[in-house]
Amino acid sequence: MTITPVAMGQPLDRLDGPDKVQGLARYAFEHQVDRPAYLYPVQATIANGRIRSIVAAPASAEPGVLTVLTHDNAPRLAVQGGETGVLQCDRIAFRGQLVGAVVAETSEVARYAAGLVRLTYDELPHDVELTADRAGLRTPAQVIPLFPMDTEQGDVEGTLAAAAVMVDRTYRTAMYHHNPMEPHTTVATWTDDGLTLYVSTQSVYAVKRTAMQLFDLPPDRVRVISRYVGGAFGAKVYQRAEIVLAIMAARAVPGRPVRFALTRQQMFSQVGYRTPTIQRVQLGADAGGRLVTLAHGSIEQTSTIEEFAEHATRMTPVMYAAPNRRTTQRVAALDVPTPTIMRAPGECSGMFALESAMDELAIACNLDPVELRIRNDPPTHPVTGQPFSSRNLVACLREGARRFGWPGRDATPRARRRAGWLLGTGMAASTYPTFRLPGSVARISAGPDGRYAVQVAAADLGTGTWTALTQIAADALEVSCADIELGIGDTAYPMASEAGASTGIMCWGTAIVEAARKLRKTLDGQHGGTVPPEGLTVEAAMPDNEYAKQYAMHTFGAQFVEVRVNEETGEVRVPRMVGVFAVGRVMNSKTGLSQLLGGMTMGLSMALFENSVVDARFGHVVNHDFAQYHIASNADVGSVDVHWIDEHDPYVTPMGAKGMGEIGIVGTAAAIANAVYHATGVRVRELPITLDKLLSPE
Ligand code: MOS
Repeated sequence: MTITPVAMGQPLDRLDGPDKVQGLARYAFEHQVDRPAYLYPVQATIANGRIRSIVAAPASAEPGVLTVLTHDNAPRLAVQGGETGVLQCDRIAFRGQLVGAVVAETSEVARYAAGLVRLTYDELPHDVELTADRAGLRTPAQVIPLFPMDTEQGDVEGTLAAAAVMVDRTYRTAMYHHNPMEPHTTVATWTDDGLTLYVSTQSVYAVKRTAMQLFDLPPDRVRVISRYVGGAFGAKVYQRAEIVLAIMAARAVPGRPVRFALTRQQMFSQVGYRTPTIQRVQLGADAGGRLVTLAHGSIEQTSTIEEFAEHATRMTPVMYAAPNRRTTQRVAALDVPTPTIMRAPGECSGMFALESAMDELAIACNLDPVELRIRNDPPTHPVTGQPFSSRNLVACLREGARRFGWPGRDATPRARRRAGWLLGTGMAASTYPTFRLPGSVARISAGPDGRYAVQVAAADLGTGTWTALTQIAADALEVSCADIELGIGDTAYPMASEAGASTGIMCWGTAIVEAARKLRKTLDGQHGGTVPPEGLTVEAAMPDNEYAKQYAMHTFGAQFVEVRVNEETGEVRVPRMVGVFAVGRVMNSKTGLSQLLGGMTMGLSMALFENSVVDARFGHVVNHDFAQYHIASNADVGSVDVHWIDEHDPYVTPMGAKGMGEIGIVGTAAAIANAVYHATGVRVRELPITLDKLLSPE
């Protein structure tokens, strides 16, 4: 018997890397189809009202134009309303809404002719600015479809008034757009066999379900393929109008596949965004910094089309225990596109506020901020009372402090200068829930040649799924990675939950481990332990995790940053970041490190640069391109030092993995804001931390 080396955890190079650098890995738009036609959309130029008239004739008459779709002639969808209900009525709910489509022989003709479509409107006043004191704030019906709403315990007002130390502050986060490198793309083909879609998506099965529902199709008439995805960050989980429009357009031009890729500018109105938030955090503590009161309220925005709300306050009672607690979520429906999930939706926004407030509390208590967090680390889940399957926040704090060189830090603000720069350090904690999405099934076909085809309709967003799932399969089957032929990103393979909520590797991997067990059992029980000449195929679903009801499951982390702020200009630089995380067992130490490093980099970008600026006069994002929407580039990022502690959690998944796609962005912005305070003495409570806020503080 040969001993196979353990694949899980190894820093295996990306298996899809060579294909990608050679241009052989086809993204959705690059799939070759016969006689493609091209779609260019028409967008509303008002933010609220109705379409009075559409004149499409000049566009239709343009040579090369195959059809012009508007709500006057578009087919009726089987499900009306919502973000997918495109061209179903004359109502305009936000500026930029898709109100028509030109399909033509070339993308140039389509784009030109789209400009010839003339619309008139009955315009109504619009309301696009989120404010805290507005009328009509409501409790959302649900906060992402997974989480409980408000929580309350004890006497918040009374204990706050009586607390030895109190912090009561309001923090704001900006509107952010995901901006993956690859735009949202669809290639739709109708044939006698049904509908085939090449799309850029986080879930081929979610796209399939949407197509089936809207176009009233049976499962065997829809196939969705998405082998490679050039980034997503949450923007490609839920289906929106653009994909529906492409399917509709392909049906309108029989025999012609339709290609549709959003432009970068269109991405700023079509694919969702991270809602801006206004958050009030109230902390009451005894003189030793032990929390007696913890209150956190968040106000967000949604659209008038659909309600989407994230849970900015949800991690607050998980992080710290206080006998008196209140969390509230409120949402305002504005004349804007519907927001959506974006990397750590809720945790990311909420932890900026909470971890900034904890820094303010540490200063008010004259206590080291690391020590403050250690003092308030709860032994069990403060709301449910459950034990944690593993909780290593304190270990991350201690290890991060050691690696960063935190001990002995002088907390005095504005006390360090070098060559015209004010220097400061700051820290914050990170967390993200570990949970499972239902529905993943893996298929394994063993061949007599010792090779294994492993199939599950997972997604690789550029994150390393191809590689990590191959490693998990190799270990589960006790073979080398070279013996695994993985298939993902295709509804020809068994059902998979989406690449979302940092659950992908856990859910798909658990299904693969289960299928491997079943294969072994079947081989041993029915075939004397060897693969029969005709091969053997098994399928298995991800089993329920009996521990999920017993234990609270979360990942944790601690981030430490060093900043310098120019005394003259207010420019903020971040020469050094250290992140230490507790994320269970890491499946691939190279792609896993990239996940955390990428998350922290995105957090830096959120803290200092990114900001979707809405022009309230018109209702759209004005800085809707990469020249004006600033994303951290290489020159903006200094040393980013990522570590994880050796965490063994036997309860989360058979692999011991806890998920690590999102936690990296949680807390980074607070760590930077806290460091900026330490450097300058100016507390910036509104992201992004731009130089104007440092030169003329409130
Ligand atoms: Mo992630 S924002 O749950 O796709």
